[in-house]
Amino acid sequence: MGAQGSDGTREATPVWVAVPAAGSGARMGAGIPKQYLPLAGKPLAEHTLAALLAVAQLRETVVAIAPGDPHWPALAPALRARVRVVDGGATRAASVANALRGFSRRPDPGDWVLVHDMARPCVRPGRIAAMLRELDADPVGGLLALPLADTLKRADAAQRVAATVPRDALWRAQTPQVFRFALLERALDEALASGEEITDEAMAIERLGLQPRLLPGSEDNIKVTRPEDLALAEYHLARQGAQS
Ligand code: C5P
Repeated sequence: MGAQGSDGTREATPVWVAVPAAGSGARMGAGIPKQYLPLAGKPLAEHTLAALLAVAQLRETVVAIAPGDPHWPALAPALRARVRVVDGGATRAASVANALRGFSRRPDPGDWVLVHDMARPCVRPGRIAAMLRELDADPVGGLLALPLADTLKRADAAQRVAATVPRDALWRAQTPQVFRFALLERALDEALASGEEITDEAMAIERLGLQPRLLPGSEDNIKVTRPEDLALAEYHLARQGAQS
């Protein structure tokens, strides 16, 4: 849906970035939220922001942080200078909705909004660029995801197997998730008003009866959740550095 330029070439659709970073990271048990833990010599969030700030059609980046977050000011000033900050909400969906209201001007309805977890520091800028090309004229948007490799079991209350769930056609959702601005804004507002638990942006879009595209992600785009994930993220970053 890029606009036609005066020389006949198509201009790429503007991209606005929203980063939920207001979680407490309770599963990490580290005392400070996981997005600020040291990773390969700098705070985890600096890796994530550097990857996002490399997006070619980037208009603006808004980060939703916990109100009064004491760790944010310790991030590199050069990175902080390139993003806007808003207060996050009680849920991830509320944090993203706040971020959408934090842009310095209202994006056009058809502009892309790219949502990416601060807790995924290994996302590759090249994959983001390819994802935006793949979605190009899509009226809705899509997300990176991985087909399930393991056999899935549903447990009963005694933690015994109640059923094996067929895994064909099941995917694990990652971020980035990229949607048209007007759709995402309406989807999140309606989802939040419903009181349902919304665990990603795609779920809010699905509630509108729309079908986000699934685009293959990669195993290295991990969400740092547990203490052992930090070493894994460090390994992936080192490997990516060696390949570039
Ligand atoms: O908790 P989880 O790992 O699912 O969080 C995913 C992302 O959402 C993290 O970057 C976290 O900081 C963010 N989040 C948020 N506001 C909340 C809860 C989580 O911005 N209320």
